[in-house]
Amino acid sequence: MAALAFSTKSFAPRQPLVAWGQKAHSKRVAPITKAGKYDDELLETATNMTKPGKGILAMDESNATCGSRLEGVGVENNEENRRRYRELLITTPNLGEHIGGAILFEETLYQSCADGTTFVDALKAQGIYPGIKVDKGLKPLANTNESWCQGLDGLADRAAEYYKQGARFCKWRSVVSIPDGPSRVAVTDCAYGLARYAAICQNAGLVPIVEPEILLDGDHDIDTTFEVASWVWAETFKYLADNNVSFERMLLKPSMVGPGADCPKRSTPEEVADYTLRMLKSRVPPATAGIMFLSGGLSELDSTLYLNAMNQSPNPWHVSFSYARALQNTVLKTWAGDDEKKDEAQAILARRTQENGLAQLGKFVAGDVSASESESTYQKNYVY
Ligand code: 13P
Repeated sequence: MAALAFSTKSFAPRQPLVAWGQKAHSKRVAPITKAGKYDDELLETATNMTKPGKGILAMDESNATCGSRLEGVGVENNEENRRRYRELLITTPNLGEHIGGAILFEETLYQSCADGTTFVDALKAQGIYPGIKVDKGLKPLANTNESWCQGLDGLADRAAEYYKQGARFCKWRSVVSIPDGPSRVAVTDCAYGLARYAAICQNAGLVPIVEPEILLDGDHDIDTTFEVASWVWAETFKYLADNNVSFERMLLKPSMVGPGADCPKRSTPEEVADYTLRMLKSRVPPATAGIMFLSGGLSELDSTLYLNAMNQSPNPWHVSFSYARALQNTVLKTWAGDDEKKDEAQAILARRTQENGLAQLGKFVAGDVSASESESTYQKNYVY
């Protein structure tokens, strides 16, 4: 048999493998202090979005999800109706008092108000940073019952385009299901994908929101959620560090640590706050700019009460909200496609943002609450 046409030399590593901590290793890892082109701007964006009393309005539902909400209140799902509804949200008077950023879906980033003002300019006029959901949604994870989040292909180019259009921060939502797993491969994939996304987007001038949502689905107790959340955040920070993501220039979007939706034992706001903060303090470096919770199916009232409970004593980070359902639920039902109800719907949004702004400061006191604000927004197998 003829000899193979290459020598073993070509397989030799370019430098000898060395153990962690030995000098040669550091040559293969970019130094943490490496200054990026957008470093100052990223820091400014993250700092401005996490001012006291401020949170994020998540309004980046995909066309299918936004559509099913619209259809739920009798409004046809088409581009113009999605635009009308989103215009109502972002033109709410004084929205910028308690909202530092609004996360948009790609379609929305390029839309305008009826008077021709672009959505980006309407937000900026209120001092609100436009953000963009950059993940491409969930897909089944082969050989498991779980899912993985796609969207890394072409992300650097898309992020550059979104920056040009005015976006200054972004979001990537991966999910972890407790009843369907979580398997090691799903948690690793979730964490690694988030870290690659965050690195790519910081390089493009967008402050990344890192969101490994632990779904509410299941009958597990609060201790199980605590264990899974601790695992997921440990993996996520390992890969964020490996990818040299700057913690000062990113935001986290965790689920609060509570029992599964079908767990018979319910928790008080104080228990949820205690578990959530214990988990975060053991996993999240204090340098991280902000913790902006998702509402995940909680009622509007509970999400405010839980946030308020978390801000009863000082935290190492800005602890705030990035809610979609818990800000929009009653607003959408009130508007229901009728522009005569626009002012009423906007007043509700202004109040919801003000209440959550107070909860960010630990100063929320519940007053009269409508039935809609106390109802759960949980949906089994929810897709965003
Ligand atoms: P919810 O507040 O409705 O959970 O949505 C927030 C979000 O952005 C999920 O990715």
